[in-house]
Amino acid sequence: MSIEEIAAFAKRKGFVFPSGEIYGSLSGFWDYGPLGTELKRNIERELWDFFVRSREDIVGIDGSIVTHPSVWKASGHLDSFTDPLVRCKKCGKRYRADKLIEDELGLRVDGISPGKMERMIRNRSLKCPECSGDLGSVRAFNLMFSTEVGPTGTRAYLRPETAQLIFTNFELVQRVSRKKLPFGIAQLGKAFRNEISPRNFLMRSREFTQFEIEFFVHPEKMDECPCFGEVESLPVWVFSRRHQKGGEPERMTVGEAVDSGVFGSRWHAYWLGKFCEFFTRLGLDPDKLRLRQHLEEELSHYAEDTWDIEYRFPFGWREIHGCANRTDFDLKRHSEVSGKELAYFDQESGKRIVPYVIEPSQGVDRLFLAILFEAYAREKERTVLRLKPFLAPYVLAVFPLVKRDGLPEKAREIFSELSVCFPCFYDESGSIGRRYRRMDEIGTPFCVTVDGETLENGTVTLRDRDSMEQKRVRIGDLKKILSELIRGKSFSALP
Ligand code: GAP
Repeated sequence: MSIEEIAAFAKRKGFVFPSGEIYGSLSGFWDYGPLGTELKRNIERELWDFFVRSREDIVGIDGSIVTHPSVWKASGHLDSFTDPLVRCKKCGKRYRADKLIEDELGLRVDGISPGKMERMIRNRSLKCPECSGDLGSVRAFNLMFSTEVGPTGTRAYLRPETAQLIFTNFELVQRVSRKKLPFGIAQLGKAFRNEISPRNFLMRSREFTQFEIEFFVHPEKMDECPCFGEVESLPVWVFSRRHQKGGEPERMTVGEAVDSGVFGSRWHAYWLGKFCEFFTRLGLDPDKLRLRQHLEEELSHYAEDTWDIEYRFPFGWREIHGCANRTDFDLKRHSEVSGKELAYFDQESGKRIVPYVIEPSQGVDRLFLAILFEAYAREKERTVLRLKPFLAPYVLAVFPLVKRDGLPEKAREIFSELSVCFPCFYDESGSIGRRYRRMDEIGTPFCVTVDGETLENGTVTLRDRDSMEQKRVRIGDLKKILSELIRGKSFSALP
């Protein structure tokens, strides 16, 4: 299954469309359609419930998208958030120089300056892949979108990450929530990057959704992680710098990885493990996940150590999550630039300290894409999307077997009753087999069919998407049965 095929499927079924397609669309922007909106919202709800609502140590904020320029001066984004840009002198096409060198020459160029990249291009006679023209000089291109605010046209920026407003609001949030270290602040929302060459469908777009947690820890207590037991025995594939030299990742538990010194701290390991646990809960195969450490030269300007969680797409391993140790970089920078000290009063020592930060950063669109790839299966007689029931756009479809004899009325009655509790779909058009196939293709895990027997004894057939098994159940039991199935009960275990 290629990225083009999944993009075509997503468009055909109403998950994702190119944005503004009637005007030729805009590269790097995507619109979520009716089914995609439901699936994306379900993923976001799971993120928020799992990492914020169900935890005592994390609270959330919802900050503004258009942001004061000083925020980005202090964070370093105005100076350092750049990609190397090169332009063809003949056809004018622009490329991200590092990706071009990687793709065309098979060399990794992380951390190499624009000047060095330019020399590589010249020495190896690298030409424009479109027209074979000569390439020009390589320059740093800032990825932030700017805008003008109000009639005076004050310059401001669309946030390129959700993280920064968590730092600028650190003191306020800590004070109102009365959280003691260690604790986290989360945010879910849009981020914008003026990518030079957006590509691979939702993988690299110019507008996307991030879910980020800034988790604040006493700098001397990075290994004091009281919840570490939750992930200690979780097996993960580890691809540290050492492993990357050898070329092979190694399978070990999070606890073993910590004991052998792979991770810089227990808190860093904890958050990586927790996200692997979460991805598995959402249906990703744990053997298609690996933890890859950034090489020194790949690290962002703010990071002491960063690990990506990569997913094995059919086109190769790609980052779906980044988890950085940002140290006290951001709080200190905002204190310096704003002149307002951002710190935490440590009751134990009686001193104000600047906490360290572990930052799990999740791209929602990349997770959406991984879930689509994982769920999509083409079988002999059907295409099926094996989404977890709690993620599916519709949990249930209700059908009358035929469009007469009072069956549509009964089916609508059941639909009205159940749609209050579960996202439901009603359909009476086409043969029953075709209706099942349509639901399989969009991931609806269960279908209820109303037939002649329903009117006689109040039972319906309940069909399972994955096994295609059918069972006769009482209408009055449907709510309870569906709730159990959504929580993970196996269909074959039903009486
Ligand atoms: N605050 C840290 C940060 O933003 P990042 O590695 O640049 O780190 C984190 O981004 C995550 O955001 C990535 O793992 C990816 O899932 C998502 N992401 C980043 N750029 C993206 C883009 N252009 N399109 C879609 N998702 C993107």
